Amino acid sequence: MNDSSTGQHRREHWRLNPAIDFLNHGSFGATPTVVLDAQRRFRDAMESDPIEFLAPERELLPKLDRVREVIAQRVNADARDIAWVRNATDGVNAVVQSFPLKPGDNVVVTDHGYNACSNAVRYAAERCGAEVRVAEIPFPIASPDEVVDAIERAIDDATRLLLIDHVTSPTGLVFPIEAIADVARRRGVRVHVDGAHAPGMLAIDLPRLGVDYYTANHHKWLCAPKTSGFLWVKPELQAQVRPTVISHAANRAIDGRSRFLSEFDWTGTFDPSPLLAVPAAIEFLDSLYPGGLAELMQSNHRLALQSRDRLCEALEIAPPAPDSMLGSLVALPLPASDAPLQQILRDQHGFEFPIYPGPKPDTRLMRVSLQAYNDVDQIDRLADLLPKLLP
Ligand SMILES: Cc1ncc(COP(=O)(O)O)c(C=O)c1O
Repeated sequence: MNDSSTGQHRREHWRLNPAIDFLNHGSFGATPTVVLDAQRRFRDAMESDPIEFLAPERELLPKLDRVREVIAQRVNADARDIAWVRNATDGVNAVVQSFPLKPGDNVVVTDHGYNACSNAVRYAAERCGAEVRVAEIPFPIASPDEVVDAIERAIDDATRLLLIDHVTSPTGLVFPIEAIADVARRRGVRVHVDGAHAPGMLAIDLPRLGVDYYTANHHKWLCAPKTSGFLWVKPELQAQVRPTVISHAANRAIDGRSRFLSEFDWTGTFDPSPLLAVPAAIEFLDSLYPGGLAELMQSNHRLALQSRDRLCEALEIAPPAPDSMLGSLVALPLPASDAPLQQILRDQHGFEFPIYPGPKPDTRLMRVSLQAYNDVDQIDRLADLLPKLLP
């Protein structure tokens, strides 16, 4: 294994505690110093003239629109179809709470879904007398077809909506969204993708995915400041989708804009600085490699595969998923044990990454994230350590 100094070199751009081997970018992201500086400048400008900065009709809307253009260009979408949300949980809640479910309908989620978002679906379904069906997806998994098959089996004639992760939180799998959307479309089921991890990890071409709704975070793999994400909705469905907070625009759309954009642009007084700093985050990530963000994503993916191989070797297990289903998150099964392994790794060895019950009964998983500031040297040390701590 080589190239162990580059991640360490790039780490200088982040504020991460040098005493910790931070292998958990996936949970909340981590924001580089230049991006925090950009955010601080927006905050300073806001506090120097709050009305000029925050009144939508003065400076705010043009600023929000400029960010919208930047994101739209990255995901090959029309900027008018992109609304702002605080985070993926907010975006998923907005869609499912707005969705016209009737008694007897059902919504399909998967057992690899993010708990908060599956809860949002349960809450919305319960209030309408609808049901939630859970597609059970294998893990370990041999091919993306197994995901499509499991989802197809879970859909029935009463299914109206499918909530599916682009990159799954507990298992770090990249799901085959286009193939899933094909199946759903044939069955007349709308598809909402929870892409919390996708921007900055995967190239996203929204029109190609063929889905109806797509929610994502900027604060994870795009390294933007926390509380910033987007919700893309197909134009013909936008009139139906309302934010989780109803505000002025419910009866007063802003200067000829759609109610969709007007409502999501203002859900009450908020700090727009995390969102306004998104272009600075993209610019920074683009500057890290000659090939820009595309090369960064490839490099993280390569490091993830290398890390997966090294850790599987140390754990004496086979890779639980094919290479094509990985981005820059790696989840691996661990043997059962009562020892507080995550705490021991953090407190005694300085490693930060999550260990948690897997989606299948009596399973335990560990998940490492590989971002530009990580390197294989950290994984080598972890791989040497793990067998000594496991039963
Ligand atoms: C798949 C998935 N969806 C949603 C979320 C929630 O993100 P947030 O807390 O930013 O809303 C996460 C967070 O890890 C996630 O992994």
